[in-house]
Amino acid sequence: MDKRKTLENLRAKTLLGGGKDKIEARHKKGLLTARERIHFLLDEGSFEEIGTFVAHRSRDFGMEKQQFPGDGVVTGYGTINGRLVYLFSQDFTVFGGSLSETHAEKICKVMDLAMKNGAPFIGLNDSGGARIQEGVVSLGGYADIFYRNTLSSGVIPQISAIMGPCAGGAVYSPAITDFIMMVEKTSYMFVTGPNVVKTVTHEEVTSEELGGASVHSTKSGVAHFTAANEIECLQNIRKLISYIPQNCEEQPDFLPYETSNETREQLKNIVPDNANQPYDIKEVITSVTDEGSFFEVHKDYAENIVVGFARLAGRSIGIVANQPAFLAGVLDIHSSQKAARFVRFCDAFNIPLLVFEDVPGFLPGTDQEWNAIITNGAKLLYAFCEATVPRVTVITRKAYGGAYDVMNSKHIGADMNFAWPTAEIAVMGAKGAAEIIFKREIAAAADTAKALAEKEKEYGDIFANPYRAAERGSIDEVIMPEETRSKLIKAFKMLENKAVKLPRKKHGNIPL
Ligand code: HXC
Repeated sequence: MDKRKTLENLRAKTLLGGGKDKIEARHKKGLLTARERIHFLLDEGSFEEIGTFVAHRSRDFGMEKQQFPGDGVVTGYGTINGRLVYLFSQDFTVFGGSLSETHAEKICKVMDLAMKNGAPFIGLNDSGGARIQEGVVSLGGYADIFYRNTLSSGVIPQISAIMGPCAGGAVYSPAITDFIMMVEKTSYMFVTGPNVVKTVTHEEVTSEELGGASVHSTKSGVAHFTAANEIECLQNIRKLISYIPQNCEEQPDFLPYETSNETREQLKNIVPDNANQPYDIKEVITSVTDEGSFFEVHKDYAENIVVGFARLAGRSIGIVANQPAFLAGVLDIHSSQKAARFVRFCDAFNIPLLVFEDVPGFLPGTDQEWNAIITNGAKLLYAFCEATVPRVTVITRKAYGGAYDVMNSKHIGADMNFAWPTAEIAVMGAKGAAEIIFKREIAAAADTAKALAEKEKEYGDIFANPYRAAERGSIDEVIMPEETRSKLIKAFKMLENKAVKLPRKKHGNIPL
Protein backbone atom coordinates (compact mmCIF):
# COMPACT_ATOMS: atom_id res chain seq x y z
CA MET A 1 0.00 0.00 0.00
CA ASP A 2 2.89 2.33 0.86
CA LYS A 3 4.27 1.89 -2.61
CA ARG A 4 0.98 2.95 -4.12
CA LYS A 5 1.00 5.97 -1.82
CA THR A 6 4.49 6.88 -3.00
CA LEU A 7 3.30 7.00 -6.60
CA GLU A 8 0.23 8.99 -5.66
CA ASN A 9 2.38 11.54 -3.82
CA LEU A 10 4.83 11.80 -6.68
CA ARG A 11 1.99 12.28 -9.14
CA ALA A 12 0.49 15.03 -6.99
CA LYS A 13 3.87 16.76 -6.86
CA THR A 14 4.30 16.75 -10.63
CA LEU A 15 1.01 18.60 -11.01
CA LEU A 16 2.47 21.53 -9.10
CA GLY A 17 5.34 22.26 -11.52
CA GLY A 18 7.50 24.97 -9.97
CA GLY A 19 5.16 25.34 -6.97
CA LYS A 20 1.76 26.65 -5.92
CA ASP A 21 2.93 30.27 -5.59
CA LYS A 22 4.26 30.37 -9.13
CA ILE A 23 1.08 28.84 -10.51
CA GLU A 24 -1.02 31.40 -8.64
CA ALA A 25 1.14 34.21 -9.95
CA ARG A 26 0.53 32.99 -13.50
CA HIS A 27 -3.21 32.72 -13.00
CA LYS A 28 -3.21 36.29 -11.67
CA LYS A 29 -1.62 37.39 -14.95
CA GLY A 30 -4.33 35.51 -16.85
CA LEU A 31 -1.87 32.82 -18.02
CA LEU A 32 -2.60 29.10 -18.13
CA THR A 33 -0.24 26.44 -16.82
CA ALA A 34 1.46 23.93 -19.12
CA ARG A 35 -1.07 21.26 -18.15
CA GLU A 36 -4.09 23.52 -18.51
CA ARG A 37 -2.97 24.31 -22.05
CA ILE A 38 -2.85 20.61 -22.89
CA HIS A 39 -6.32 20.24 -21.42
CA PHE A 40 -7.72 22.93 -23.75
CA LEU A 41 -5.81 21.65 -26.79
CA LEU A 42 -6.67 17.96 -26.76
CA ASP A 43 -9.90 15.98 -26.78
CA GLU A 44 -11.19 15.64 -23.24
CA GLY A 45 -9.36 12.93 -21.29
CA SER A 46 -7.20 11.86 -24.24
CA PHE A 47 -3.80 12.97 -22.91
CA GLU A 48 -1.27 10.31 -21.96
CA GLU A 49 1.91 11.59 -20.36
CA ILE A 50 5.39 10.22 -21.03
CA GLY A 51 8.37 10.99 -18.79
CA THR A 52 6.52 12.39 -15.78
CA PHE A 53 9.38 11.73 -13.39
CA VAL A 54 12.33 12.77 -15.48
CA ALA A 55 14.81 14.80 -13.41
CA HIS A 56 17.73 16.95 -14.52
CA ARG A 57 21.33 15.85 -13.89
CA SER A 58 22.84 19.26 -13.27
CA ARG A 59 25.20 19.48 -10.28
CA ASP A 60 26.53 23.03 -10.60
CA PHE A 61 25.28 26.19 -8.88
CA GLY A 62 23.39 24.16 -6.26
CA MET A 63 21.08 22.78 -8.93
CA GLU A 64 21.16 19.31 -7.35
CA LYS A 65 18.97 20.74 -4.58
CA GLN A 66 16.41 22.13 -6.98
CA GLN A 67 14.50 19.25 -8.55
CA PHE A 68 11.02 19.45 -10.08
CA PRO A 69 9.61 16.17 -11.46
CA GLY A 70 9.29 16.37 -15.22
CA ASP A 71 12.00 19.07 -15.42
CA GLY A 72 9.90 21.88 -16.81
CA VAL A 73 8.18 20.20 -19.72
CA VAL A 74 5.09 18.00 -20.01
CA THR A 75 5.33 15.57 -22.92
CA GLY A 76 3.08 12.89 -24.36
CA TYR A 77 0.33 12.18 -26.85
CA GLY A 78 -3.41 12.52 -27.23
CA THR A 79 -6.05 13.22 -29.83
CA ILE A 80 -7.56 16.22 -31.62
CA ASN A 81 -11.00 15.39 -33.03
CA GLY A 82 -10.04 11.75 -32.65
CA ARG A 83 -6.73 12.08 -34.50
CA LEU A 84 -3.45 11.18 -32.84
CA VAL A 85 -0.96 13.99 -32.11
CA TYR A 86 2.26 14.14 -30.10
CA LEU A 87 3.15 17.21 -28.09
CA PHE A 88 5.15 19.00 -25.47
CA SER A 89 4.11 21.88 -23.23
CA GLN A 90 6.81 23.85 -21.44
CA ASP A 91 6.32 24.89 -17.84
CA PHE A 92 7.56 28.42 -17.23
CA THR A 93 7.24 27.92 -13.46
CA VAL A 94 10.27 25.57 -13.57
CA PHE A 95 13.45 27.55 -14.33
CA GLY A 96 11.50 29.72 -16.79
CA GLY A 97 10.70 26.68 -18.97
CA SER A 98 14.38 26.66 -19.89
CA LEU A 99 15.74 23.67 -21.75
CA SER A 100 18.06 21.31 -19.91
CA GLU A 101 19.67 18.17 -21.29
CA THR A 102 16.88 16.00 -19.88
CA HIS A 103 14.11 18.44 -20.87
CA ALA A 104 15.45 18.14 -24.44
CA GLU A 105 15.57 14.35 -24.22
CA LYS A 106 11.90 14.27 -23.27
CA ILE A 107 10.98 16.41 -26.29
CA CYS A 108 13.15 14.30 -28.61
CA LYS A 109 11.47 11.13 -27.38
CA VAL A 110 8.01 12.31 -28.45
CA MET A 111 9.39 13.74 -31.70
CA ASP A 112 10.81 10.30 -32.53
CA LEU A 113 7.49 8.66 -31.72
CA ALA A 114 5.65 11.18 -33.91
CA MET A 115 7.93 10.36 -36.83
CA LYS A 116 7.77 6.59 -36.36
CA ASN A 117 3.99 6.69 -36.14
CA GLY A 118 3.37 9.37 -38.77
CA ALA A 119 1.40 11.86 -36.69
CA PRO A 120 1.55 15.67 -36.23
CA PHE A 121 3.88 17.13 -33.64
CA ILE A 122 2.79 20.16 -31.62
CA GLY A 123 5.02 22.31 -29.40
CA LEU A 124 3.56 24.63 -26.78
CA ASN A 125 6.59 26.85 -26.20
CA ASP A 126 7.11 28.96 -23.09
CA SER A 127 10.82 29.06 -22.45
CA GLY A 128 13.80 31.27 -21.67
CA GLY A 129 15.89 29.12 -24.05
CA ALA A 130 18.92 27.02 -23.13
CA ARG A 131 19.18 26.43 -19.36
CA ILE A 132 22.00 28.74 -18.46
CA GLN A 133 23.22 26.65 -15.50
CA GLU A 134 23.88 23.67 -17.77
CA GLY A 135 26.06 25.21 -20.48
CA VAL A 136 26.90 23.10 -23.49
CA VAL A 137 24.63 20.14 -22.71
CA SER A 138 21.57 22.37 -23.01
CA LEU A 139 22.89 23.79 -26.28
CA GLY A 140 23.36 20.22 -27.47
CA GLY A 141 19.78 19.50 -26.41
CA TYR A 142 18.53 22.26 -28.67
CA ALA A 143 20.60 21.01 -31.57
CA ASP A 144 19.07 17.54 -31.08
CA ILE A 145 15.62 19.13 -31.42
CA PHE A 146 16.55 21.29 -34.45
CA TYR A 147 17.91 18.18 -36.17
CA ARG A 148 14.68 16.28 -35.59
CA ASN A 149 12.56 19.29 -36.64
CA THR A 150 14.45 19.36 -39.92
CA LEU A 151 14.24 15.62 -40.60
CA SER A 152 10.51 15.70 -39.78
CA SER A 153 9.92 18.65 -42.13
CA GLY A 154 7.68 17.58 -44.99
CA VAL A 155 7.07 14.16 -43.38
CA ILE A 156 4.75 15.06 -40.49
CA PRO A 157 3.09 18.45 -39.90
CA GLN A 158 4.78 20.42 -37.10
CA ILE A 159 2.95 23.24 -35.33
CA SER A 160 4.44 25.63 -32.77
CA ALA A 161 2.45 27.78 -30.38
CA ILE A 162 4.33 30.53 -28.58
CA MET A 163 2.63 30.87 -25.22
CA GLY A 164 5.01 33.14 -23.30
CA PRO A 165 8.38 34.85 -23.59
CA CYS A 166 10.52 32.65 -25.85
CA ALA A 167 14.19 33.39 -26.38
CA GLY A 168 17.27 31.81 -27.93
CA GLY A 169 16.86 28.20 -28.97
CA ALA A 170 13.17 28.42 -28.03
CA VAL A 171 12.56 30.41 -31.21
CA TYR A 172 14.73 28.49 -33.66
CA SER A 173 12.90 25.22 -33.22
CA PRO A 174 9.52 26.88 -33.99
CA ALA A 175 11.14 28.62 -36.97
CA ILE A 176 11.86 25.26 -38.59
CA THR A 177 8.31 24.00 -38.02
CA ASP A 178 5.45 24.57 -40.45
CA PHE A 179 3.30 27.05 -38.54
CA ILE A 180 3.86 29.46 -35.67
CA MET A 181 0.97 30.75 -33.57
CA MET A 182 1.28 33.60 -31.08
CA VAL A 183 -0.92 35.12 -28.38
CA GLU A 184 -1.42 38.88 -28.35
CA LYS A 185 0.21 40.76 -25.47
CA THR A 186 1.53 37.66 -23.63
CA SER A 187 3.83 35.88 -26.04
CA TYR A 188 7.16 37.10 -27.38
CA MET A 189 9.83 35.70 -29.65
CA PHE A 190 13.36 36.98 -29.94
CA VAL A 191 16.81 35.56 -30.45
CA THR A 192 18.05 37.90 -27.71
CA GLY A 193 15.79 39.72 -25.23
CA PRO A 194 15.55 43.49 -24.53
CA ASN A 195 18.35 43.42 -21.92
CA VAL A 196 20.89 41.93 -24.30
CA VAL A 197 19.73 44.28 -27.06
CA LYS A 198 20.37 47.23 -24.76
CA THR A 199 23.85 46.03 -23.86
CA VAL A 200 24.92 45.30 -27.42
CA THR A 201 23.21 47.98 -29.52
CA HIS A 202 22.16 50.50 -26.81
CA GLU A 203 18.65 50.26 -28.22
CA GLU A 204 15.87 50.63 -25.62
CA VAL A 205 13.00 48.41 -26.62
CA THR A 206 10.21 46.58 -24.83
CA SER A 207 9.52 42.86 -25.29
CA GLU A 208 6.32 43.74 -27.13
CA GLU A 209 8.11 46.14 -29.50
CA LEU A 210 10.95 43.70 -30.08
CA GLY A 211 9.05 40.47 -30.60
CA GLY A 212 5.38 40.65 -29.69
CA ALA A 213 2.60 38.96 -31.64
CA SER A 214 1.79 42.17 -33.46
CA VAL A 215 5.39 42.63 -34.67
CA HIS A 216 5.73 39.04 -35.87
CA SER A 217 2.32 38.92 -37.56
CA THR A 218 2.72 42.22 -39.43
CA LYS A 219 6.40 43.20 -39.80
CA SER A 220 8.55 40.09 -39.74
CA GLY A 221 6.03 37.47 -40.88
CA VAL A 222 7.52 35.00 -38.37
CA ALA A 223 4.06 34.25 -36.93
CA HIS A 224 1.37 32.72 -39.16
CA PHE A 225 -1.53 33.14 -36.73
CA THR A 226 -2.24 35.38 -33.75
CA ALA A 227 -4.97 34.94 -31.17
CA ALA A 228 -6.52 37.29 -28.63
CA ASN A 229 -5.92 34.80 -25.81
CA GLU A 230 -4.40 31.41 -25.07
CA ILE A 231 -7.60 29.44 -25.46
CA GLU A 232 -8.26 30.94 -28.90
CA CYS A 233 -4.69 30.06 -29.87
CA LEU A 234 -5.19 26.42 -28.83
CA GLN A 235 -8.52 26.31 -30.69
CA ASN A 236 -6.71 27.57 -33.79
CA ILE A 237 -4.34 24.59 -33.59
CA ARG A 238 -7.34 22.24 -33.48
CA LYS A 239 -8.83 24.01 -36.50
CA LEU A 240 -5.58 23.90 -38.47
CA ILE A 241 -5.21 20.17 -37.84
CA SER A 242 -8.65 19.61 -39.41
CA TYR A 243 -7.37 20.74 -42.85
CA ILE A 244 -4.16 18.74 -42.93
CA PRO A 245 -3.36 15.03 -43.06
CA GLN A 246 -1.44 13.00 -40.46
CA ASN A 247 1.65 12.76 -42.65
CA CYS A 248 2.94 13.15 -46.20
CA GLU A 249 1.67 9.71 -47.27
CA GLU A 250 -1.94 10.46 -46.33
CA GLN A 251 -4.70 12.64 -47.74
CA PRO A 252 -6.48 15.32 -45.67
CA ASP A 253 -9.87 14.38 -44.18
CA PHE A 254 -12.92 14.86 -46.41
CA LEU A 255 -16.00 16.36 -44.77
CA PRO A 256 -19.33 14.87 -45.81
CA TYR A 257 -20.97 17.02 -48.46
CA GLU A 258 -24.25 16.84 -50.33
CA THR A 259 -24.28 18.44 -53.77
CA SER A 260 -26.89 21.11 -54.25
CA ASN A 261 -27.16 24.18 -56.49
CA GLU A 262 -23.55 25.31 -56.84
CA THR A 263 -24.26 28.51 -58.81
CA ARG A 264 -23.09 31.59 -56.92
CA GLU A 265 -24.90 34.63 -58.33
CA GLN A 266 -23.02 37.02 -56.02
CA LEU A 267 -19.82 36.38 -58.02
CA LYS A 268 -21.32 38.25 -61.00
CA ASN A 269 -20.87 41.66 -59.42
CA ILE A 270 -17.56 41.54 -57.56
CA VAL A 271 -15.09 42.61 -60.27
CA PRO A 272 -15.72 46.32 -61.10
CA ASP A 273 -16.13 47.48 -64.72
CA ASN A 274 -13.18 49.82 -64.34
CA ALA A 275 -10.04 47.65 -64.42
CA ASN A 276 -8.22 50.09 -62.14
CA GLN A 277 -10.74 49.87 -59.34
CA PRO A 278 -9.92 47.60 -56.41
CA TYR A 279 -12.16 44.88 -54.97
CA ASP A 280 -11.72 42.41 -52.14
CA ILE A 281 -10.55 39.00 -53.39
CA LYS A 282 -11.70 37.50 -50.08
CA GLU A 283 -15.27 38.06 -51.27
CA VAL A 284 -14.47 35.81 -54.22
CA ILE A 285 -12.82 33.21 -51.96
CA THR A 286 -15.68 33.04 -49.46
CA SER A 287 -18.30 32.96 -52.23
CA VAL A 288 -16.59 30.06 -54.02
CA THR A 289 -15.63 27.89 -51.03
CA ASP A 290 -17.83 26.04 -48.53
CA GLU A 291 -19.56 28.44 -46.17
CA GLY A 292 -17.43 29.45 -43.17
CA SER A 293 -14.56 27.20 -44.23
CA PHE A 294 -11.91 29.79 -45.18
CA PHE A 295 -9.09 29.79 -42.60
CA GLU A 296 -6.61 32.50 -43.46
CA VAL A 297 -2.89 32.09 -42.82
CA HIS A 298 -0.60 35.12 -42.38
CA LYS A 299 -3.68 37.37 -42.37
CA ASP A 300 -1.94 40.62 -41.47
CA TYR A 301 1.37 40.10 -43.29
CA ALA A 302 2.00 40.97 -46.97
CA GLU A 303 -1.69 41.56 -47.48
CA ASN A 304 -1.26 41.96 -51.24
CA ILE A 305 -1.46 38.19 -51.39
CA VAL A 306 -3.99 36.07 -49.51
CA VAL A 307 -3.24 32.48 -48.51
CA GLY A 308 -5.21 30.02 -46.44
CA PHE A 309 -7.07 26.76 -46.17
CA ALA A 310 -10.68 26.19 -47.16
CA ARG A 311 -13.03 23.43 -48.20
CA LEU A 312 -14.63 22.87 -51.56
CA ALA A 313 -17.52 20.40 -51.41
CA GLY A 314 -15.88 18.99 -48.28
CA ARG A 315 -12.40 18.70 -49.81
CA SER A 316 -9.51 20.48 -48.07
CA ILE A 317 -7.72 22.91 -50.42
CA GLY A 318 -5.01 25.56 -50.14
CA ILE A 319 -5.78 28.96 -51.62
CA VAL A 320 -3.33 31.52 -53.00
CA ALA A 321 -4.91 34.74 -54.27
CA ASN A 322 -3.66 38.15 -55.34
CA GLN A 323 -5.45 40.89 -53.37
CA PRO A 324 -6.35 43.86 -55.64
CA ALA A 325 -7.59 45.73 -52.53
CA PHE A 326 -4.01 46.02 -51.22
CA LEU A 327 -1.20 47.56 -53.32
CA ALA A 328 -3.29 46.58 -56.36
CA GLY A 329 -2.35 42.94 -55.71
CA VAL A 330 1.23 43.48 -56.88
CA LEU A 331 3.81 40.76 -56.21
CA ASP A 332 6.72 41.90 -54.04
CA ILE A 333 9.37 40.30 -51.83
CA HIS A 334 7.19 39.56 -48.81
CA SER A 335 4.14 38.38 -50.73
CA SER A 336 6.31 36.06 -52.83
CA GLN A 337 7.94 34.55 -49.74
CA LYS A 338 4.61 34.19 -47.97
CA ALA A 339 2.92 32.44 -50.87
CA ALA A 340 5.94 30.27 -51.72
CA ARG A 341 6.09 28.83 -48.21
CA PHE A 342 2.37 28.12 -48.24
CA VAL A 343 2.50 26.44 -51.65
CA ARG A 344 5.35 24.19 -50.46
CA PHE A 345 3.45 23.22 -47.30
CA CYS A 346 0.35 22.28 -49.30
CA ASP A 347 2.42 20.33 -51.82
CA ALA A 348 4.29 18.46 -49.08
CA PHE A 349 1.02 17.37 -47.47
CA ASN A 350 -1.16 16.54 -50.49
CA ILE A 351 -3.41 19.57 -50.25
CA PRO A 352 -4.61 20.65 -53.73
CA LEU A 353 -3.96 24.26 -54.70
CA LEU A 354 -6.46 26.81 -55.96
CA VAL A 355 -5.14 30.14 -57.27
CA PHE A 356 -7.16 33.29 -57.88
CA GLU A 357 -5.19 35.65 -60.06
CA ASP A 358 -5.48 39.40 -60.46
CA VAL A 359 -1.94 40.74 -60.58
CA PRO A 360 -0.53 43.83 -62.32
CA GLY A 361 3.03 42.45 -62.14
CA PHE A 362 6.05 42.65 -59.84
CA LEU A 363 6.59 45.83 -57.80
CA PRO A 364 9.25 48.01 -59.45
CA GLY A 365 11.81 50.13 -57.57
CA THR A 366 15.20 50.26 -55.89
CA ASP A 367 13.88 49.04 -52.54
CA GLN A 368 12.63 45.83 -54.13
CA GLU A 369 15.62 45.32 -56.42
CA TRP A 370 18.23 45.95 -53.71
CA ASN A 371 16.49 43.57 -51.37
CA ALA A 372 16.46 40.84 -54.00
CA ILE A 373 13.00 40.70 -55.52
CA ILE A 374 14.71 38.60 -58.18
CA THR A 375 15.67 35.85 -55.73
CA ASN A 376 12.49 36.18 -53.70
CA GLY A 377 10.08 36.32 -56.61
CA ALA A 378 11.84 33.23 -57.94
CA LYS A 379 10.87 31.40 -54.74
CA LEU A 380 7.21 31.54 -55.67
CA LEU A 381 7.95 30.57 -59.25
CA TYR A 382 10.03 27.62 -58.04
CA ALA A 383 7.42 26.56 -55.48
CA PHE A 384 4.65 26.39 -58.07
CA CYS A 385 6.88 24.72 -60.68
CA GLU A 386 7.76 21.81 -58.40
CA ALA A 387 4.28 21.34 -56.86
CA THR A 388 2.76 18.03 -57.92
CA VAL A 389 -0.61 18.30 -56.15
CA PRO A 390 -3.69 19.12 -58.25
CA ARG A 391 -3.37 22.78 -59.26
CA VAL A 392 -6.16 24.96 -60.61
CA THR A 393 -6.09 28.69 -61.48
CA VAL A 394 -8.90 31.18 -61.99
CA ILE A 395 -7.89 34.48 -63.59
CA THR A 396 -10.44 37.02 -62.44
CA ARG A 397 -8.85 40.08 -64.03
CA LYS A 398 -5.22 41.05 -64.62
CA ALA A 399 -2.57 38.50 -65.47
CA TYR A 400 0.29 40.72 -66.56
CA GLY A 401 3.92 40.10 -67.32
CA GLY A 402 6.13 37.67 -65.42
CA ALA A 403 3.47 37.51 -62.74
CA TYR A 404 1.21 35.70 -65.25
CA ASP A 405 3.83 32.97 -65.57
CA VAL A 406 4.46 32.78 -61.84
CA MET A 407 0.85 32.60 -60.64
CA ASN A 408 0.30 28.94 -61.43
CA SER A 409 0.17 29.30 -65.20
CA LYS A 410 -0.46 26.34 -67.46
CA HIS A 411 3.15 26.57 -68.65
CA ILE A 412 4.56 25.75 -65.19
CA GLY A 413 2.41 22.73 -64.59
CA ALA A 414 -1.06 23.91 -63.55
CA ASP A 415 -3.73 21.34 -64.42
CA MET A 416 -6.77 23.48 -65.15
CA ASN A 417 -6.70 27.19 -65.93
CA PHE A 418 -9.96 29.08 -66.03
CA ALA A 419 -10.50 32.75 -66.84
CA TRP A 420 -13.46 35.01 -66.28
CA PRO A 421 -14.64 37.20 -69.20
CA THR A 422 -13.03 40.15 -67.36
CA ALA A 423 -9.56 38.57 -67.61
CA GLU A 424 -6.75 40.53 -69.29
CA ILE A 425 -3.72 38.42 -70.15
CA ALA A 426 -0.88 40.52 -71.55
CA VAL A 427 2.72 41.56 -71.11
CA MET A 428 1.49 44.73 -69.39
CA GLY A 429 -1.51 47.04 -69.08
CA ALA A 430 -2.78 48.62 -72.33
CA LYS A 431 -1.65 52.18 -71.48
CA GLY A 432 1.92 51.22 -70.58
CA ALA A 433 2.15 48.96 -73.62
CA ALA A 434 0.89 51.66 -76.00
CA GLU A 435 3.34 54.20 -74.58
CA ILE A 436 6.25 51.89 -75.39
CA ILE A 437 5.44 50.26 -78.69
CA PHE A 438 3.70 53.30 -80.29
CA LYS A 439 6.06 55.90 -78.80
CA ARG A 440 7.00 57.45 -82.14
CA GLU A 441 3.46 57.52 -83.58
CA ILE A 442 2.11 59.14 -80.42
CA ALA A 443 4.89 61.75 -80.30
CA ALA A 444 4.30 62.63 -83.96
CA ALA A 445 0.53 63.05 -83.56
CA ALA A 446 -1.04 66.50 -83.46
CA ASP A 447 -3.09 65.49 -80.42
CA THR A 448 -0.83 63.18 -78.38
CA ALA A 449 -3.44 62.43 -75.70
CA LYS A 450 -5.95 61.36 -78.35
CA ALA A 451 -3.31 59.27 -80.12
CA LEU A 452 -2.37 57.56 -76.86
CA ALA A 453 -6.03 56.81 -76.09
CA GLU A 454 -6.49 55.30 -79.56
CA LYS A 455 -3.40 53.14 -79.32
CA GLU A 456 -4.32 52.10 -75.80
CA LYS A 457 -7.71 50.97 -77.11
CA GLU A 458 -6.07 49.13 -80.00
CA TYR A 459 -3.76 47.19 -77.67
CA GLY A 460 -6.57 46.63 -75.17
CA ASP A 461 -8.92 45.28 -77.84
CA ILE A 462 -6.35 42.68 -78.79
CA PHE A 463 -5.04 41.65 -75.38
CA ALA A 464 -7.36 42.90 -72.59
CA ASN A 465 -9.38 39.70 -72.74
CA PRO A 466 -8.90 35.98 -72.12
CA TYR A 467 -9.46 34.79 -75.67
CA ARG A 468 -5.94 35.05 -77.12
CA ALA A 469 -4.76 32.77 -74.30
CA ALA A 470 -7.78 30.49 -74.73
CA GLU A 471 -7.08 30.14 -78.47
CA ARG A 472 -3.65 28.78 -77.57
CA GLY A 473 -4.93 26.52 -74.81
CA SER A 474 -3.07 28.41 -72.07
CA ILE A 475 -6.54 28.97 -70.67
CA ASP A 476 -8.60 25.78 -70.69
CA GLU A 477 -11.99 27.44 -70.40
CA VAL A 478 -13.45 30.92 -70.15
CA ILE A 479 -16.23 30.69 -67.59
CA MET A 480 -18.90 32.92 -66.08
CA PRO A 481 -18.04 33.98 -62.52
CA GLU A 482 -21.22 32.42 -61.13
CA GLU A 483 -20.22 29.02 -62.58
CA THR A 484 -16.85 29.05 -60.82
CA ARG A 485 -17.71 26.97 -57.78
CA SER A 486 -19.34 24.25 -59.82
CA LYS A 487 -16.44 24.13 -62.31
CA LEU A 488 -13.88 23.96 -59.51
CA ILE A 489 -15.66 21.18 -57.62
CA LYS A 490 -15.66 19.11 -60.82
CA ALA A 491 -12.07 19.99 -61.72
CA PHE A 492 -10.68 18.95 -58.33
CA LYS A 493 -12.71 15.73 -58.42
CA MET A 494 -11.39 15.03 -61.92
CA LEU A 495 -7.81 15.59 -60.66
CA GLU A 496 -8.22 13.43 -57.56
CA ASN A 497 -5.91 10.68 -58.73
CA LYS A 498 -3.27 12.92 -60.29
CA ALA A 499 0.14 11.27 -60.13
CA VAL A 500 3.24 13.15 -61.20
CA LYS A 501 6.81 12.21 -60.45
CA LEU A 502 9.56 14.83 -60.40
CA PRO A 503 12.97 13.94 -61.89
CA ARG A 504 15.05 11.90 -59.44
CA LYS A 505 17.33 14.14 -57.37
CA LYS A 506 18.76 14.47 -53.88
CA HIS A 507 16.87 17.71 -53.40
CA GLY A 508 16.30 20.83 -55.44
CA ASN A 509 18.03 24.11 -54.75
CA ILE A 510 15.22 26.63 -54.18
CA PRO A 511 16.59 30.21 -54.36
CA LEU A 512 16.77 30.95 -50.62
C1 HXC B 1 17.75 29.18 -16.58
C2 HXC B 1 16.11 30.78 -16.62
C3 HXC B 1 16.36 31.02 -17.99
C4 HXC B 1 17.37 30.26 -18.62
C5 HXC B 1 14.78 32.33 -17.35
N1 HXC B 1 15.12 31.61 -16.27
N2 HXC B 1 15.52 31.99 -18.41
N3 HXC B 1 16.80 29.86 -15.94
N4 HXC B 1 18.03 29.36 -17.87
N5 HXC B 1 17.64 30.41 -19.91
C6 HXC B 1 14.54 31.67 -14.93
C7 HXC B 1 14.82 32.98 -14.22
O1 HXC B 1 16.07 32.87 -13.55
C8 HXC B 1 13.67 33.06 -13.27
O2 HXC B 1 13.92 32.19 -12.17
C9 HXC B 1 12.53 32.45 -14.05
O3 HXC B 1 13.14 31.67 -15.06
C10 HXC B 1 11.65 33.49 -14.70
O4 HXC B 1 12.47 34.39 -15.42
P1 HXC B 1 12.27 35.97 -15.35
O5 HXC B 1 13.45 36.59 -15.99
O6 HXC B 1 11.92 36.35 -13.95
O7 HXC B 1 10.95 36.16 -16.25
P2 HXC B 1 10.60 37.32 -17.28
O8 HXC B 1 10.86 38.65 -16.66
O9 HXC B 1 9.22 37.01 -17.73
O10 HXC B 1 11.62 37.17 -18.50
C11 HXC B 1 11.60 36.02 -19.30
C12 HXC B 1 12.82 36.00 -20.27
C13 HXC B 1 14.13 36.23 -19.42
C14 HXC B 1 12.66 37.12 -21.30
C15 HXC B 1 12.80 34.66 -20.98
O11 HXC B 1 14.12 35.33 -18.30
C16 HXC B 1 15.37 35.99 -20.22
O12 HXC B 1 15.79 36.88 -20.98
N6 HXC B 1 15.98 34.82 -20.01
C17 HXC B 1 17.24 34.50 -20.66
C18 HXC B 1 17.07 34.31 -22.12
C19 HXC B 1 18.30 33.82 -22.78
O13 HXC B 1 19.22 34.59 -23.10
N7 HXC B 1 18.44 32.47 -22.89
C20 HXC B 1 19.58 31.79 -23.38
C21 HXC B 1 19.53 31.89 -24.87
S1 HXC B 1 20.79 31.01 -25.66
P3 HXC B 1 13.34 32.46 -10.70
O14 HXC B 1 14.04 31.46 -9.86
O15 HXC B 1 13.66 33.87 -10.38
O16 HXC B 1 11.87 32.23 -10.81
C22 HXC B 1 20.06 29.73 -26.35
C23 HXC B 1 20.98 29.00 -27.26
C24 HXC B 1 20.29 28.04 -28.17
O17 HXC B 1 18.94 29.45 -26.15
C25 HXC B 1 20.95 27.95 -29.51
C26 HXC B 1 20.14 28.64 -30.55
C27 HXC B 1 20.66 28.49 -31.98
